[in-house]
Amino acid sequence: MSLKSNIHSENLPKHIAIIMDGNGRWAKKKGFLRALGHENGTRSVKTTVECCVELGIENLTLYAFSTENWNRPKLEVKTLMQLLISSLKKEMNTLQKSSIRLNAIGNLEHLPAKVRKELLHVIDKTKGNSRMTLTLALSYGSRDELVNATKLICDKVKNNIISAENIDETLINQHLYTQNLPDVDLLIRTSGEKRISNFLLWQIAYAELYFTDELWPDFSKESLYKAIHSFQSRERRFGKTSEQLKS
Ligand code: FPP
Repeated sequence: MSLKSNIHSENLPKHIAIIMDGNGRWAKKKGFLRALGHENGTRSVKTTVECCVELGIENLTLYAFSTENWNRPKLEVKTLMQLLISSLKKEMNTLQKSSIRLNAIGNLEHLPAKVRKELLHVIDKTKGNSRMTLTLALSYGSRDELVNATKLICDKVKNNIISAENIDETLINQHLYTQNLPDVDLLIRTSGEKRISNFLLWQIAYAELYFTDELWPDFSKESLYKAIHSFQSRERRFGKTSEQLKS
């Protein structure tokens, strides 16, 4: 029996976020350059996006480049930026055909002008699509996001646009890069590492965490079905008791 048939359509995560880890180790294991690991990682991106659309997942967020990734060797950063441009160009039609809206979170000002231009172009072209929102976290760090939100809020308080007493969770949410996205329901990390690595710290407060030893380029549709199946087998209590949920 296919793993897909184990998935219940009435209890799907509304928002899946993925830390796509292990491209480098995948390449090393095969005796390839790291760049080839990233290139094969883009195949898993495509498969995962297609699979989420087929299943009816409304939001998928991918950690494609962190604020800390700028410290990688220059050549690797360049390779990743080039891969991003070529993927955006190549996949534009698929995004349109599948009605996927592209979105990006992070300090986009830091991206090379060419990448930003292509990214903003695709975001603009796909802004009317409604089947799924695909968010790329680029030059993203959760602490940076929180610092940025704090500055925006302080500015508004200083200029009497809001008062400090009105600061609450909703207001903070509205000032995050993810302002229009729901909280994350399922966070997946590949490659066996069990860390969050500065990804969506606020938004994963009640997310179910799923770790797999598979390296990102090996992540397949079946891997995603397994993760969703695990999500659906858990009881999400949000601080309540099991009895409260049942009554
Ligand atoms: C982590 O693996 C992966 C990244 C830092 C980049 C992720 C990028 C892609 C999957 C390709 C481009 C993405 C898009 C959206 C087109 P790692 O290099 O840290 O692996 P390692 O821990 O084994 O060295």
